[in-house]
Amino acid sequence: MKVLITGGSGFIGSHLADRLLAQGDEVLSIDNYATSRRGNLAEQDGLTMVEGSIADPDTVRGVFEDFGPDVVAHAAASYKDPDAWVEDTRTNALGTVNVVEAARDAGVGRLVYFQTALCYGTKPIEQPITLDHPIRPDSSYAISKTAGEEYIELSGIPFVSLRLANVYGPRNMSGPPPTFYSRLSEGKPCFVVDTRRDFVFVEDLIEVVEAALRGTGEGHYHVSSGSDHSIKEMFEAVTDAMGIELDEEVEVRPRTEDDAPSILLDPSRTERDFEWKAGVPLSEGVAKAIEYYKAEGVGETYTHLRAEELKVPASDES
Ligand SMILES: NC(=O)c1ccc[n+]([C@@H]2O[C@H](COP(=O)([O-])OP(=O)(O)OC[C@H]3O[C@@H](n4cnc5c(N)ncnc54)[C@H](O)[C@@H]3O)[C@@H](O)[C@H]2O)c1
Repeated sequence: MKVLITGGSGFIGSHLADRLLAQGDEVLSIDNYATSRRGNLAEQDGLTMVEGSIADPDTVRGVFEDFGPDVVAHAAASYKDPDAWVEDTRTNALGTVNVVEAARDAGVGRLVYFQTALCYGTKPIEQPITLDHPIRPDSSYAISKTAGEEYIELSGIPFVSLRLANVYGPRNMSGPPPTFYSRLSEGKPCFVVDTRRDFVFVEDLIEVVEAALRGTGEGHYHVSSGSDHSIKEMFEAVTDAMGIELDEEVEVRPRTEDDAPSILLDPSRTERDFEWKAGVPLSEGVAKAIEYYKAEGVGETYTHLRAEELKVPASDES
């Protein structure tokens, strides 16, 4: 199979590329390295890496014409600055339109998309969230990602849109695990907010993506572990993996009225159609992520949230 991956050097894109290449598929990645490390995806047989932006229609058309992909995994996205509406629109809406039009003209058989659970808004009205929950994005990232998802649906290309819980694992540079790891390894204080989130290990997600690219499923799906964990449990998984014993339990701060107590997706359609269940326990997945941070460092981390929305400490102030 010839697979074109947008954002192929990113966290999810590079795990997918590694998995496909190991199975003998041919992969082309297009990435502008806005939020990825160049080293994430090593040069290897079967892999073509193009540096460029999906916001540029000529670049996108050129890679589709030269490579002739059978299927597309569209993982490139902009999210690192909540106020960068133009950049979010350029990459997530216009960039997706460029990918979709080029894919349609190239006769691509399937497109897999990675949608954010924030398409349901920051205050979902049900737990777990079903696929019928109203779509009501309330940030630049979620609005532009939702526009992209709509254009994919409009195109008529057979698609699978995976609406994701919080994916974590090696190479992940956003969310609680890299933040806790950095602060703990520098001896800085941490706190957690009294909320619960749905964490999925990246290898569990990649199983679904690979099956979707090879022909399983049609339409929208949730990729979720099926159960939520408190941020405190995530913190403790990180300290356990680092072999740290703290003198005192981590400070738990009450949530504000803006904090959803839990965000949990209902994975039942995915479990049925893909005959899949998230299998990696939190302790095991976090241990693999920490092994990676120990070897490669954390460096710059990115988030689509404003500092006051983070459920983990963002700065030196605890
Ligand atoms: N990680 C999660 O928990 C999560 C949750 C929901 C949705 N998603 C979606 O999954 C996809 C992958 O996210 P990730 O977690 O791997 O993040 P990531 O930042 O590691 O990957 C995104 C990639 O897109 C690239 N990129 C950004 N703008 C680009 C442009 N204009 N042209 C080409 N490349 C560009 C970045 O450099 C990066 O490599 C994204 O579409 C994201 O919206 C991720």
